[in-house]
Amino acid sequence: MSNKIIIAIDGTSSTGKSTLAKRLAKKLKYLYIDSGAMYRALTLYAIQNKYISKSHFDSQKLIEDIPNIHIDFQYNQQNNKYEVHLNNNSVEKHIRSLKVSNLVSQIATVGELRKHMVKVQHFLGSKNGVIMDGRDIGTVVFPNAEIKFYLDASLELRAKRRYKELIEANYKISFDEVLSNIKLRDNQDINRKNSPLKIAPDSIVIKTDSFTLDELEEKLLSYISPKL
Ligand code: DC
Repeated sequence: MSNKIIIAIDGTSSTGKSTLAKRLAKKLKYLYIDSGAMYRALTLYAIQNKYISKSHFDSQKLIEDIPNIHIDFQYNQQNNKYEVHLNNNSVEKHIRSLKVSNLVSQIATVGELRKHMVKVQHFLGSKNGVIMDGRDIGTVVFPNAEIKFYLDASLELRAKRRYKELIEANYKISFDEVLSNIKLRDNQDINRKNSPLKIAPDSIVIKTDSFTLDELEEKLLSYISPKL
């Protein structure tokens, strides 16, 4: 029987983390957890409850409301996908909007909220055989993960990828809006005080620009296979 491990994939946004994590999870029959979707679901809750907008953020109210916020992943039999749920409703279709994308990094700066998210992530990933992607998986959530990747790519390419994804998902958005949102999130993710995005010393760093998804999958598997 193969050894079930924890695989952490961190990096800047739109580097292909989630696409690769999903592919690997399917191949290895592992559970995939998109930690970014959890921060996005939390942001959606804050927007719906008017705790955050472009001009204000009442982090204290959101922290006090934590016991009423239940975020998990449930299987959708219609499309064969795990979807992020907020208080038992699938919010997968609402969390990629520009409104959520522009506010999520602000939510992600708050230490108390991160602590809660990490608790949920530990619970969801408590059985081995997990691939989790995000910003602090190898540094904070699972510092003992058997294998850690850090993915990066040029800003231009990341913006192009994200723009294509959003257009395909019918979001009305311009390329410049996507580009400035990625710049904003990079800046907030890297420079925040709590669990900033950084490369864990034992991470395998991969620049994804010049590889196809198939090549990247093969590359990651070549590091993973000896650990299984
Ligand atoms: O992976 P994503 O782009 O969907 O993530 C959305 C935001 O959530 C990202 O800009 C930063 C935040 N995030 C985080 O702070 N820590 C994580 N582990 C995952 C995401």
